[in-house]
Amino acid sequence: MKKEMGHVFLKKLGKTRLRPGGIDGTNFLLSNINFEKEIKVLEIACNRGVNLLQLASKYKNANFIGIDLDKKSIDEANSQKEKLGLNNVEFFVADAFRLEFADESFDYVINEAMLTMFSDKMKIKALNEYYRVLKNNGLLLTHDIMLINNFENTRKILSESINVNVFPLPKSEWEQIFSNSKFQTVASKNGELTLMTPSGMIKDEGIVNTFKIIKNGLKKENRTQFLKMKKTFTKLKKDMNYICFVNKK
Ligand SMILES: C[S@@+](CC[C@H](N)C(=O)[O-])C[C@H]1O[C@@H](n2cnc3c(N)ncnc32)[C@H](O)[C@@H]1O
Repeated sequence: MKKEMGHVFLKKLGKTRLRPGGIDGTNFLLSNINFEKEIKVLEIACNRGVNLLQLASKYKNANFIGIDLDKKSIDEANSQKEKLGLNNVEFFVADAFRLEFADESFDYVINEAMLTMFSDKMKIKALNEYYRVLKNNGLLLTHDIMLINNFENTRKILSESINVNVFPLPKSEWEQIFSNSKFQTVASKNGELTLMTPSGMIKDEGIVNTFKIIKNGLKKENRTQFLKMKKTFTKLKKDMNYICFVNKK
């Protein structure tokens, strides 16, 4: 059986939001953005651009840039941008660890469900880049996985089920990583992982698409991985949460 990374697999099934706390976590982060002003927003690891396409349609005074390493996702974001006729958003392939933007270019940096995928050393490397490109008093908005119990065991079981070695942290260690990178944490929100719960999927994708995703997940070629991920997420319900942080430069 072909082993795909969890987010690549869920995307193949039709999932558009690939973050642990779904739209609830994202809405908490976005509530910290002041769209009344002429702001510049960078989203790192934007995938197919679901956040920025919506925001750019709604807030014409703001300017948005979305980057991701995955060319196919960026192509999808750009074709949707063309369809919607948006001229206040740009998408391109770029690496979070080597941002080609001048210092202090952005009012906000959004980064959902990416830092968890990297070691602490790499997390700090990325955070140093985010700090550099943010303006003074700018906000970094992140969305990741938080460990609650049996840290190492939870990390291993999760990594094994999504076919990628991931490095979620307990809350205090996330805060430490941000403060080591000179950020000041000003707010956070955590809650149950909703990525694969029926109610979370309905909130994120709507009823019709949730049925399509589940139907695709239960097809013969996907069933083993789909059920394994679903079972693991249920099993680890008490051991991990999603966590969103608002960090100030
Ligand atoms: C779990 S997905 C989350 C996607 C999206 N942020 C969301 O929440 O739906 C992780 C994303 O990080 C991207 N990514 C991984 N490493 C990256 C890097 N070094 N620079 C930019 N994007 C990266 C992947 O291509 C993928 O789109």
